[in-house]
Amino acid sequence: MDDRYDVLADAARLGREFVDGLAERHVGATAGVAELRERLARPLTAAGEDPRVVIAELAADADPGLTASAGPRYFGFVVGGALPAAVAADWLTSAWDQNGGGTLTTPGLAVVEAVAADWVRDLLGLAPECGVGFVTGCQMAHVTCLAAARHAVLADAGWNVETDGLQGAPSLRVVAGAHAHITIARACRILGLGADTIRVVPADAEGRMLPGELGVALGEHDGPQIVCAQAGEVNTGAFDPLEEIVGLCRASRAWCHVDGAFGLWAAVDPARRHLLRGFEQADSWATDGHKWLNVPYDCGIAIVADAARQRGAMASTADYIPANDSDVPWGVESTPEFSRRARAVPLYAALRALGRDGVRDLVAGCCAHAQRMAARLDAHAAAEILNEVVLNQVLVRFAGSDEVTDAVIERVQRDGVCWAGGSRWHGVIVMRISVSGWQTTAADADRSADAILAALDAVTA
Ligand SMILES: Cc1ncc(COP(=O)(O)O)c(C=O)c1O
Repeated sequence: MDDRYDVLADAARLGREFVDGLAERHVGATAGVAELRERLARPLTAAGEDPRVVIAELAADADPGLTASAGPRYFGFVVGGALPAAVAADWLTSAWDQNGGGTLTTPGLAVVEAVAADWVRDLLGLAPECGVGFVTGCQMAHVTCLAAARHAVLADAGWNVETDGLQGAPSLRVVAGAHAHITIARACRILGLGADTIRVVPADAEGRMLPGELGVALGEHDGPQIVCAQAGEVNTGAFDPLEEIVGLCRASRAWCHVDGAFGLWAAVDPARRHLLRGFEQADSWATDGHKWLNVPYDCGIAIVADAARQRGAMASTADYIPANDSDVPWGVESTPEFSRRARAVPLYAALRALGRDGVRDLVAGCCAHAQRMAARLDAHAAAEILNEVVLNQVLVRFAGSDEVTDAVIERVQRDGVCWAGGSRWHGVIVMRISVSGWQTTAADADRSADAILAALDAVTA
């Protein structure tokens, strides 16, 4: 064995120690940025250092700045854990160090990604012809899907945006709900569609786009339009009425894109698939592996019903790259990347390890734990649940007060039994709880709810 690679065994041991400690570690980071800088900003030497020392010290120095976000009681943002098989596959992906651009550079991993794409379409119940691109996250999935949308609606209006750009193009309007995730506006910014020119459609109290208002909006513009609907609002988990929205888009020849960063996976749970009714008829969908599928960062998924539209927006070639004559899609044709990590490899391992039932149970389990936490919190006189808990998201406010709610959030984070962040909902401060990790059990849900209520009691004592 080449002892220059002994450091890989060190990394495996250190990684193992970290994941073994996840369940009982203080959930938030315990060191501040200044301390971490002090620990990590060692002098960059001229001669370099022994890789084993580098890795040992890196792990020790960063440790107090790490959060147990992959553990069972982290409920911040929408952060999934990382399944053991997926972590192991991720390590292998690094060891293999393949350029995941396509079959030319790595036939093995291009086929792994093609199989993962088959499984994703199959699990979601989408047509096998859909194009699938594996990108860094839902943000880049939006960029990919909306680039395909821009390509398609302008091509249908007789304009080639790939060759001629946007200057002088027919006026293209993006329409989105009032609670569209910020990454939609950012994708529009990146694509030259403008963030502030998005026509915002009012939403109901849960954040669901109002279809009647969408009808009005679509009628205002005589030209190409792209509608961005949502499956899983980032605060409430609410679903836009997709069946009606898709119908309105069809009638106006507008492209319908669905942001389902986490909510799209409700499709695998028979008890929740109805929340997505009609979603299969949309034109594109953006989702994540690194949220609810519990694949380690980073893994986003861009799906486009008409794969040719996706290739039309993304494919690029060069004299030194022959055309793809295989039936295996290339990442370079379905994503904005050229050289790229084969980031569907951990997804492949996660889906195989879970199986169909495991994916369903993961989604259903998180939703059940969210409901359990909501019920336990709601039983306290000074806690109020502000959303309909239809998925894995809970919004809770304490003592009807911004100050108390902020103080409870701060105290919970400091106590370290669990971690939840804050948000603003209808103008007031709330605690957001997102149950997205495979490790969370009913006991973790109870222990976390009790820790939150203990913090509330301490703050209001
Ligand atoms: C609804 C929704 N869309 C998009 C995103 C962005 O996803 P990512 O962070 O993977 O880019 C998020 C992130 O939480 C989200 O909740």
